[in-house]
Amino acid sequence: MHPSLLLLSLTLLLPLAAASPPDHPSHFSKHRLHLRNTTATPQEYIEVTRPLPFDSLTPSCTLPLLSHTFANTINLPPITANYSPPSNCTWSRAVLHLSGASNGSQYDRIAAVWLAGAEILRTSTPEPTDDGIFWNVRKDITKYSSILRQSNLTLAVMLENVVNDVYTGVYRLNFTVLYYDVVSNGTTNRRNQKSTIRKLKNNPVRSQNSTNSLELNENPADLIIPISASGDEGFWFRIERETDAVFQGVQIPLNTYRAVIEVYVSFHGNDEFWYSNPPDAYIEMNKLPTKRGHGSYREVVVKLDDNTVGSVIPFPVIFTGGINPLFWEPVVSIGAFDLPSYGIEMTPFLGMLLDGKTHYVGLGVADAISFWLVDANLHLWLDDKADKVQAQAVKYSSPSFSLERELKFQLRDGKFEIEGKRKSEFIGWVNSSAGNFTTYVSHKLKFENTIKFSNNGTEKELKQKVKVTDKVRVESNTGVLILSNELERKYPLKITTSTLPGSEKDTYLMITKLENSIEEETSNLNFTSSLENSQKSEGWMFVKDHDVLSGAATSYQSYGVEDSFGCYNRRVSSANGYITNDTTSFLCASASS
Ligand SMILES: *[C@@H]1O[C@H](CO)[C@@H](O)[C@H](O)[C@H]1NC(C)=O
Ligand SMILES: *[C@@H]1O[C@H](CO)[C@@H](O)[C@H](O)[C@H]1NC(C)=O
Ligand SMILES: *[C@@H]1O[C@H](CO)[C@@H](O)[C@H](O)[C@H]1NC(C)=O
Ligand SMILES: *[C@@H]1O[C@H](CO)[C@@H](O)[C@H](O)[C@H]1NC(C)=O
Ligand SMILES: *[C@@H]1O[C@H](CO)[C@@H](O)[C@H](O)[C@H]1NC(C)=O
Ligand SMILES: *[C@@H]1O[C@H](CO)[C@@H](O)[C@H](O)[C@H]1NC(C)=O
Ligand SMILES: *[C@@H]1O[C@H](CO)[C@@H](O)[C@H](O)[C@H]1NC(C)=O
Ligand SMILES: *[C@@H]1O[C@H](CO)[C@@H](O)[C@H](O)[C@H]1NC(C)=O
Ligand SMILES: *[C@@H]1O[C@H](CO)[C@@H](O)[C@H](O)[C@H]1NC(C)=O
Ligand SMILES: *[C@@H]1O[C@H](CO)[C@@H](O)[C@H](O)[C@H]1NC(C)=O
Ligand SMILES: *[C@@H]1O[C@H](CO)[C@@H](O)[C@H](O)[C@H]1NC(C)=O
Ligand SMILES: *[C@@H]1O[C@H](CO)[C@@H](O)[C@H](O)[C@H]1NC(C)=O
Repeated sequence: MHPSLLLLSLTLLLPLAAASPPDHPSHFSKHRLHLRNTTATPQEYIEVTRPLPFDSLTPSCTLPLLSHTFANTINLPPITANYSPPSNCTWSRAVLHLSGASNGSQYDRIAAVWLAGAEILRTSTPEPTDDGIFWNVRKDITKYSSILRQSNLTLAVMLENVVNDVYTGVYRLNFTVLYYDVVSNGTTNRRNQKSTIRKLKNNPVRSQNSTNSLELNENPADLIIPISASGDEGFWFRIERETDAVFQGVQIPLNTYRAVIEVYVSFHGNDEFWYSNPPDAYIEMNKLPTKRGHGSYREVVVKLDDNTVGSVIPFPVIFTGGINPLFWEPVVSIGAFDLPSYGIEMTPFLGMLLDGKTHYVGLGVADAISFWLVDANLHLWLDDKADKVQAQAVKYSSPSFSLERELKFQLRDGKFEIEGKRKSEFIGWVNSSAGNFTTYVSHKLKFENTIKFSNNGTEKELKQKVKVTDKVRVESNTGVLILSNELERKYPLKITTSTLPGSEKDTYLMITKLENSIEEETSNLNFTSSLENSQKSEGWMFVKDHDVLSGAATSYQSYGVEDSFGCYNRRVSSANGYITNDTTSFLCASASS
């Protein structure tokens, strides 16, 4: 992402950087690229995901929120609008629809939407073309229902764009909320047979029994407390180094029986490709001018007062100017339009939080360099039959953590390996009107990162693996299992790049291959789901500084999800800016070939 300051500093660096390709810039603009066929009709850019189960339904209400053209918005406060839910509208599900369009040339930009200071979407824009592009994002925001039902709130959208003679593209964005009354429309979709959603409210017993789910959209909280900044520069916290951790005081209602913190995060500037940053020693020894260093472990750490309650190694979302921008047209990278947020179960900590005093939620990024944009929402479920619930921690042990680094290099060639592990277990009981339930939470995180430079630093190979295992179990004090949820998430990433000098000054030929994927298995007492979403891209480009002059690329994405109710598979191939094959099937892998 390129706020203008960054552009300037990179421009200053380039004459030096160009003399030493090993850490070539990894973020490009296509403004000099005119190899395209002029179609004169704008093209749609997509992120491949599964459609929402109620996409085919007619919304009971539609509320346009905001239409704005983001031109030269650098250093301006967010664009705001007043929000009140539609009156006389029965709804149980809500979708935020972003529709965007742009033409000309422009870098990708990070953007976010907040309602009453609580983030509801983190997104990034695709880089436009002269013929124009457009795109749509639909996100289920039911988990924010407790906010969406309030009136007279401020909706804020932050998107800092820089428009000048070269970067001409403005971003035209419309935001709309669609409200669905899924319940009154019956079981239109088996997957969405949550006729229970409405009953959840006000009945902790039922909610825990009937949805059997920790999925926030299936079981929205009664109250959300934003852990976010004041808003003049957006409600996210800007973190430039490890010591920039922020702490915000919260005081929660005394009848809270469940708490989950949801973390939003994106990485920019010198840390946009944090996973491929080499160690400082390599940069110093070779006197490389790059600031993209301090590689290559990062972890977002969430604290409650002095206790670490959880951590996140974020999925490596690649923005549309990243690595090779030709890879991301017109299919953007995983998560680019809807960056994942990460939930951390905090119920075992209610014993600390329910003393009526102010406690401090902390957000920080271990090993960070400039810069990260982080904020969070504290989701709370309240017992409406009691003014006060009792809670106590049974087991809290400081998470075990290990990080090993191995550096081997000679001049520009070498190999850097990092292996990290974190493990934590928390137990606590909560005695609400529903009974005395004990929550067991276990969290395991494994991180492996290898960067290899060869051929005098002109070839770079990155391999990263992240594996997360989360378990949450809730038992009644008579030993009955109320809930048992497991999540296993893996996200391997592989990037190889060879850089050859071009005949002209400051020009390079870069040949790149990339494989990025996310595999996720979730289960609870009744339901299992498995997702495999992978992208493979390869291609070359000829660049001068940050500009792509020519190039060619092919990409292939395979998205498959299988759960207790059925399957959805989509395979999309694209080449040089166009989709060449796009097939969707509802057959399960075992049934199809
Ligand atoms: C232009 O379009 C033609 C026909 O669709 C196609 O054969 C050709 O490869 C395209 N050229 C580029 C540069 O995309
Ligand atoms: C609310 O909606 C119901 C059902 O659609 C309708 O009968 C009623 O007149 C509406 N009330 C108002 C105040 O609009
Ligand atoms: C935004 O909404 C306006 C008014 O409905 C419409 O004219 C425009 O095309 C929309 N723009 C986008 C990018 O969807
Ligand atoms: C975008 O397209 C419109 C309509 O074709 C045109 O008037 C405008 O100049 C274009 N903007 C850029 C930055 O190319
Ligand atoms: C919202 O604000 C308007 C104007 O200030 C006021 O008339 C209205 O009563 C408010 N509504 C609610 C629900 O607070
Ligand atoms: C229910 O679904 C039908 C058909 O899908 C649609 O016509 C109708 O408007 C929907 N009703 C509501 C309240 O969403
Ligand atoms: C909730 O589940 C437990 C265990 O399955 C059961 O004993 C209890 O009766 C259920 N409560 C309700 C309200 O269904
Ligand atoms: C907590 O537990 C006690 C005894 O087990 C019970 O009498 C009391 O009602 C419970 N408190 C709440 C808030 O439900
Ligand atoms: C390695 O690259 C550096 C910087 O480009 C250059 O000065 C040096 O001569 C190269 N070494 C070899 C063996 O090619
Ligand atoms: C709740 O259950 C735990 C574990 O069974 C027990 O230690 C605790 O005393 C109970 N709390 C209340 C208020 O009954
Ligand atoms: C969960 O499974 C049990 C037994 O298999 C079934 O009785 C219950 O209805 C299921 N609950 C949901 C929410 O599907
Ligand atoms: C498109 O993809 C499908 C499934 O991946 C494959 O069966 C089919 O042969 C492909 N079609 C073309 C024209 O490549």
